[in-house]
Amino acid sequence: MHVTRAAAAMLLPFMLAMPVTTVAQAADPVGDPARGKTVFRSVGDCMRCHGWAADGRSGVHLRAPPGSNLRETALDAEGLAEVIRCGLPGTPMPYHSRQAYDGDGCYGMSLDDFDADDKPKRGKTFGDDDIQNVVAYLQSEVIGLGKPTFEECTAFFENPAAAACNSLR
Ligand code: HEC
Repeated sequence: MHVTRAAAAMLLPFMLAMPVTTVAQAADPVGDPARGKTVFRSVGDCMRCHGWAADGRSGVHLRAPPGSNLRETALDAEGLAEVIRCGLPGTPMPYHSRQAYDGDGCYGMSLDDFDADDKPKRGKTFGDDDIQNVVAYLQSEVIGLGKPTFEECTAFFENPAAAACNSLR
């Protein structure tokens, strides 16, 4: 959060009056963007379809189905988490929760409810904490960005000479 000095001075009395537990709870559901980037890049293999820049183009593997441009998504945190957990049945977007479609947590459906063609695909699976982490990464570092730049690319790969960034030079 970016708070100006004047705003901070106005907020301070309220923050001091707040019980400590409220502050701790408010911070709880927020994921860790740095870990979320690792999930995006390797653990969840999102980069293969959405590209390093999450724009559905940049560096997408030729044989991977291209993913949509996440920079322009209109989904909020809850919507993002649901799509990542459950996937989008009938599209190449796979589900990533180990518990997806076990109970009624995914669109109220189980895998048997789908025709063979529409069955949601299984992606790399991981826990709820990493789902929150990748949502935090998308919300704090991806959504709303314009065209990918060379600087953004080398920062993503943490390597000023990353070959994947050459086309943006
Ligand atoms: C096999 C390719 C593939 C992989 C792997 C993949 N996606 Fe997707 N994703 C897609 C495609 C294709 C769509 C668009 C589906 C449609 O609406 O037709 C999509 C859509 C989405 C959407 C919905 C965007 C919107 O605005 O509707 C989100 C969010 C998303 N993906 C996040 C992720 C994340 C995070 C990961 C990694 C954990 C991931 N995806 C892995 C292919 C993939």
